[in-house]
Amino acid sequence: SDYLWFEGIPFPIIKYEKEIIEKSCDKFVFRDEDIVILTYPKSGTNWMKEIVCLIQTKGDPSWIQSVPIWDRSPWIESQRGYQLLINKEGPRLISSHLPFHFFPKSFFSSKAKIIYVIRNPRDVLVSGYFFWRKTKYVKIPESLTTYFEWFLKGNVAYGSWFEHTRAWLSMRERDNFLLLSYEDIKKDTKSTIKKICDFLGKKLEPNELDMVLQYSSFQAMKENKMSNFSLITKDAAHNGLDILRKGMTGDWKNHFTVAQAEAFDKVFQEKMAGFPPGLFPWE
Ligand code: A3P
Repeated sequence: SDYLWFEGIPFPIIKYEKEIIEKSCDKFVFRDEDIVILTYPKSGTNWMKEIVCLIQTKGDPSWIQSVPIWDRSPWIESQRGYQLLINKEGPRLISSHLPFHFFPKSFFSSKAKIIYVIRNPRDVLVSGYFFWRKTKYVKIPESLTTYFEWFLKGNVAYGSWFEHTRAWLSMRERDNFLLLSYEDIKKDTKSTIKKICDFLGKKLEPNELDMVLQYSSFQAMKENKMSNFSLITKDAAHNGLDILRKGMTGDWKNHFTVAQAEAFDKVFQEKMAGFPPGLFPWE
């Protein structure tokens, strides 16, 4: 299949319909107590979802072990997610990959909170290459070299990483916006969980914090069938989706050629110029 092109952005085709993306952009009404996990795909979205779900239950794993991850924190831009969200009473956990300019405008006049997770785009590229090709949602590249070219042009799911990230980072000084990186979460998961608790105004006892840590680990998520995507149906994926593939930083070094690494550096420097040094922990 090909992408669903909507206003110049390629969307994965099965989950989304033009009308629902339009509707979500225009009509979705945010509430002050909403929490949004926002990412460019393959940046650690599901990891963050698991952590935030566990914070909500103070480390009790019964919710994450009984409800599929996509229903615990539904996608605003998917048909199913949108319906679940508008009918949900009480506090909502919401996921989105939407580019900034598509995001529902009601957010900006609410006190809803966004957790935005960034990741080294080189690792995002490699993770995406291995993930998307197993789905039936997108146009399949014949090789990593092809995908590499598409990625730099922004002709991959949700468009350009550079545009997505630049635009969302413009929000980074706001009180209701928490910027995290996959690399920092990986380096010190416990401190990150504490940071998220502070941001959300939650207090956890030390043993509760330990449970959040334990149940959101790579291994625990891999074994949790509500989180490891083993429930994905045949109409969406060919042979099951390996969402928990390697879970490491720097895997791109195993896949890029020297020329590709250089080409990527050049584009990164050009497109991300102007941001303070230190914002991107992998650089
Ligand atoms: P890799 O493909 O590099 O292994 P997303 O949820 O945005 O699709 O991101 C998926 C990436 O996050 C995958 O990267 C996956 O392994 C990684 N990931 C998911 N859960 C994780 C965890 N608990 N610890 C470390 N990495 C995790």
